[in-house]
Order: sequence, then structure tokens, then C-alpha cells
Amino acid sequence: MPIFATPQGWVLETANTGYALGLNAAGLLAHCYWGPRLTTAADYPPPPNPPAWGSFNNPAQLTPEEYPGYADIKFSEPCLKLSFADGVRDVVLRFESAAMPDGDRPELHITLRDAVYPFRLTLHYRVHAAYDLIERWVTAVNEGPTPIMIERIWSAQWHLPPGDSYRLSHLTGRFMDEFHLRREPLGHGVKVLESRRITSSHHHNSWFAVDRGHADEDSGAVWFGACAWSGNWKLAAEVTDFASTRLSLGINDWDFAWRLKPGESFSTPASCAGFTGDGFGGASRRMHDYIRDGVLPHGRQLHQVLYNSWEATEFAVDEPSQTRLAELAAAMGIELFVIDDGWFHRRNHDRAGLGDWWPDTQKFPNGLQPLIAKVTALGMQFGLWIEPEMVNPDSDLYRAHPDWVIHFPTRARTEGRNQLILNMGRPDVQDYLIAKLDRLLAEHTISFIKWDMNRNVSEPGWPDAPGDQRELWVRYVQGLYRVWGTLRERHRHIVWQSCSGGGGRADLGILHYADQIWPSDNTEPAARLAIQEGFSQLFPAGTMESWVTDMGPQHLSLAFRFHVGMCGALGIGGHLEHWDAARRAEAAEWIARYKTIRPLVQLGDCYRLRSPQQHAFSALQYVAKDRSEAVLFAFRTHIPAPAILPPIYLRGLDPDAPYEVEGIAGARSGRAWMHAGLSIALADFESTVRRIRRLYRTMPAA
Ligand code: DGJ
Repeated sequence: MPIFATPQGWVLETANTGYALGLNAAGLLAHCYWGPRLTTAADYPPPPNPPAWGSFNNPAQLTPEEYPGYADIKFSEPCLKLSFADGVRDVVLRFESAAMPDGDRPELHITLRDAVYPFRLTLHYRVHAAYDLIERWVTAVNEGPTPIMIERIWSAQWHLPPGDSYRLSHLTGRFMDEFHLRREPLGHGVKVLESRRITSSHHHNSWFAVDRGHADEDSGAVWFGACAWSGNWKLAAEVTDFASTRLSLGINDWDFAWRLKPGESFSTPASCAGFTGDGFGGASRRMHDYIRDGVLPHGRQLHQVLYNSWEATEFAVDEPSQTRLAELAAAMGIELFVIDDGWFHRRNHDRAGLGDWWPDTQKFPNGLQPLIAKVTALGMQFGLWIEPEMVNPDSDLYRAHPDWVIHFPTRARTEGRNQLILNMGRPDVQDYLIAKLDRLLAEHTISFIKWDMNRNVSEPGWPDAPGDQRELWVRYVQGLYRVWGTLRERHRHIVWQSCSGGGGRADLGILHYADQIWPSDNTEPAARLAIQEGFSQLFPAGTMESWVTDMGPQHLSLAFRFHVGMCGALGIGGHLEHWDAARRAEAAEWIARYKTIRPLVQLGDCYRLRSPQQHAFSALQYVAKDRSEAVLFAFRTHIPAPAILPPIYLRGLDPDAPYEVEGIAGARSGRAWMHAGLSIALADFESTVRRIRRLYRTMPAA
């Protein structure tokens, strides 16, 4: 049973892990254990009852609480900070009840209540047993007659086994340069990662992995997780002076407040986290499977090879230019033709048009339908770019509703890329966007939408807010989810892509609405390899759109460019009219080849064999779930001569079954490919893709 009560509390078990919590002698809900699954219920440690440390650290400060409120003599990071109407600014949580409701997924709900005030808090735990993951979130309810101000309400505090030193792995980046993997020791104090940008942001990602400093891709204890939130978030990794390490995760409390009115409730987004002994690779594969099965609306859907017009034509899209590109794309085997920016009313540059979501009559005199008909006749589906949350001051929408943007009335409205941000928290903005975009989608045969968001916030005001103006940060994201969710519900056949100038909104929250993510505007293939490696820490390859373009040094071969793109959901973004017939024919061959390995890449198990962020010779492998086949990608960027390339050790194969690796004579056991490895000769900026096939289920007798 995944969740059970013990005399000491509760145990949550997954396929390989156990997580225990309970009430200690002081009545605090304390964390007891998180790690490998133990043999019997009695093996799980009881709730700790730490003694005071002098007069400066009392037992409450030293208790690893599951969800500490700011109260008592406690100074480590609390998850909850409230302000009651009478000015009392702490919250004293007492256990009230526990329940394990019937449902599709095992859940534990623990209800706490303030000792004096009519405030109730329920901690939700949901077990995803097959993925070794636990999802946590909380719901706060004001049961009294006066409002309560919430100043911080995080999703979870995750505790690591006490007494050890840990290393934190996380992702940092910037526009055009996302998803750098960083590993650093966790020292005493608090390490904060966050976004204050209104999106989850290019700069940090809420994904984390913590190990004892010696885990690798294949082995070692790793605790990992992320927050399912597409707005401002915060991760506080704290090491106390008593060797207690905990990671708190949730909505950022910076400039945040929520006025919880009488009778109202507030639910946080979820934080999902897990433990594995299978190293960083094992952590990623668990997240990938969970995202495919438990987050994405259609996680097992294979994504089509698309063409995107952005890098080729930018704003200069019109019916003739897109028709020419579509004809060339179709001849190459492309399945989905996407017009990026530039198709709508007066959008000839980035200074006008955002907000006016109807086809530009000069570029498309008869609307988009003739082009869509042509694309369809060519055997492709049709997709479109939109940026719904944005408005240019030079647009009909802004002229009609200047009050709809996020602003402080007395301040200048700072523009980013000549645009302002619509206040998605406003129901009238949400309703307008739903109506406009619903019409666009209903009137056209559209199979794919790229949803972009090209600036971060400034002057975060909402003069006529229904509550505290600082609710904006959360109401914005709730509004975004409502608009996207409603459109998704009404147009179920559409595949949606989340883009924010590349990877500015890549998070577990958005993947409930988007089927894919555009990880970066940087399509230079060598840079892309590193970006893709970082992206793969959390996200499965099927969510990773990757284009072959003309960006980067011209000496880079088309094969190299394609191999990089083939590691994810392949797309083409080069200017096909500038590609000669031989280049287009070669591209057609790679596209055909990709289609044969697409299920392996998009749905298989990902093994990072050699890191492109660390090595100029890197390799990546995808293995079918039944291990019957796999595909290997290897890349060499620049290594000064003389170069000796190390062997590549495959992963994920049946050790006792014989496999053939394309291009290498003779079958060998999975064990041999994994432990003796294979050698591949590559020159600078050469790459290879090799299929791997299992011949039988076991090695034939000698
Ligand atoms: C930013 C995106 O990341 C690009 O791919 C492209 O869609 C442009 N916006 C269009 O303005």
C-alpha cells in the first residue's frame, strides 16, 4: 500500500522509496525519513524530539517540520507567514486530522489549524509510486469573519537526511543561453534561486537535484524535484547550523501578498520531488516518465516534423513567400508548416500589431485560408504563432484599452521589445483573449499553436485590483492558465508549444497546457547541444522542439545540424529558398531517417553518456522501454590535435542479450557494449547517429 499510518505517523511508499512523517511529543508535524524504501513499517524512524540548545535554540527551532509556519522562537525558513486582522503576525499550527481519501491516486491529507484563529491549512501529499515521486501542495482556508493576509505560502519543504553535506545541481541561463547545469556544495545558510520576472524565466529553473557530492549519471543517491508554477517562484536551500538540510519551494514571496477573505481558500501549485539511488540519469528518467504519463495532456503523442518560418522570413511573411516555403518543405517530408510572427494586422516589424489577432490584409488579402488550403493540399498540417499576453502601444487593442496593461498610474510604462504586458489577472482581459483566439481557431484549420511571451515585467501595478495589488503575481498565472486551458479544451486537436523568447517559460506548470517547449532561440548547433543537455535534466525529449537552421558557422555540416535536431522533436527553420537542391535532398533523407527513430527519441529512456557541457566529444542515447532497440548520437566539436577520443559506454541494454550497433561489424552482448564500450572516430564538428538492435532476448549458447 503506498500510504499507511503507523503508531508514529504516516509512511508514503513508492516503488523504491519511503517517506515518513509524524507528530512528535510537542505535537509538531515532523519529517522522519526520505530515502530507499525500508523493509517493514517499524523500520521507519520515529518523529524527532530534539532537545533545546541553550536558550537560543529551542526544540521547535531544531525540529525538521514538514511545513513550518512562522511562530515560536524559530528562525529557519518557514513555509507560511500570515498577518491576522488584529496585527498578529505569526501562525501556530496544531494537528487536527489526517485522511487518505479514495481516488485514482493515493493521497494523504493532513489538516492543521491555528491554535487561536479560525485558519485551517491542509497539506496534500500525492504518491506517484511508479516514478518514485511525491507531489505536495497546500490549501489554506479562512474560516473567520475578517481577512487574513498571506505573505508567504510555499508548496513544500523537502528535508534531506540530517548530518550529511550535500551538493546542489540546478540550471541557470539567460536569453539565447539557457539551461546551464551548475553543481555546487550547499554551505551553511540559505541559497536562493528564484524568478521575479512574472514567468518562470530563462535565468533559473525550479528544478533541483541534491546529492552527497559523488553521484554520477548512473549511480548514487539523488533527491530531485521542481515546482509546477509558471510565474514567480522561489527555491530556498537551507543548511542550518545543526546540519539539517531542507529545500523549500513555491510561489515567490517577494512583493507577494494575498488577502484571504472570509470563507475563501487558497491553493498553492504543487512541488513534485523524488529520491533515487540511480544517479542523475535515473532522476531524469523518472521525471521524464512522470511528465509523459502524469503531466502532459497527451504525453505519448508523437510530434510531427515541422517547418517554422521565423529565422527565414522574420516579419516578411505573406502568402506568396510562405507558399514557396511550404512547397519546398512538403517536398522534403515536413509534416507541419508553421507561420511564426508577422502574419497579423500591421505586423511589419516589432513596433506594432500585438493584440490585433486577425490576418494582415496586405500580406494575406484573402485571409489565411488560401494558404492553409495550399499547405493542406501539400499534405501538411498548418500551425500559427501568437503572443496573447502582449500588446504594442501601436495597436487597436491598446488604443481601446490602455488600462488593460500592467502598470502603475503615476509611472511611465517601460516597454520591452516595444511592448507592454496585458494584465492576465483581469477577467475582462481573459474573456477578450478567449473570445478573440477562439474565433481565430474556429475560423481556420489550425493544428499547432506556438504561444510566445517576449518580455519580463516592470511597474507591476494593478490600480483597480479586486484585492491587494500584490496578488497580481499569482492572478496573472491563474489567468494565463484559464485562457490557455479554455482554448485547449475547446480545440482539442491542437498541439501547443510554450515559448518565451526561447526557454523563458519551461516548467512543470505550463506542461499541463503545452505539449512542447521551445528551449532557446539559439539554434547554433554546438551551443544547442549544451542547452539541450541542461533541458534534459527535467524534460523528456518529446517536449524539446529543436530546429535545423542556418545559424552558426557555415562550415557546420547539414548532418551535424540534423543530428542535433534529431535528439528532440525535429523541426526545420532554415531558409529553404537559400538551400540548393542537393541540400534539400540531403535534408529529406535526414527527415526520413528521423521518422524511423522518432518513437525511440520522443518516448524512449534518455541516457546522457558524455556531457556536451563538459566535453567536446559528447554522446547521448535513447533506449526503447522494452530494450529491443536504441539509438546513439555522438558529437565532436573542436578538440585540438592530436585528439584521442575515449570509448563510449552504452547504457540501458539487456546485459545478456546480443545487440548490433549500426556501422560496427558483429553482435556483442549488451553487457559488452555497456562495459567494454565502442570506439567511434569523428573529426572536428563531425557527428554520427547509430541504430542499435537487439537480435534475440538472450545470447545464443557458445
Ligand atoms: C521569440 C521566439 O523565441 C522566436 O522563435 C520567434 O517566435 C520570435 N519571438 C518572434 O517574434
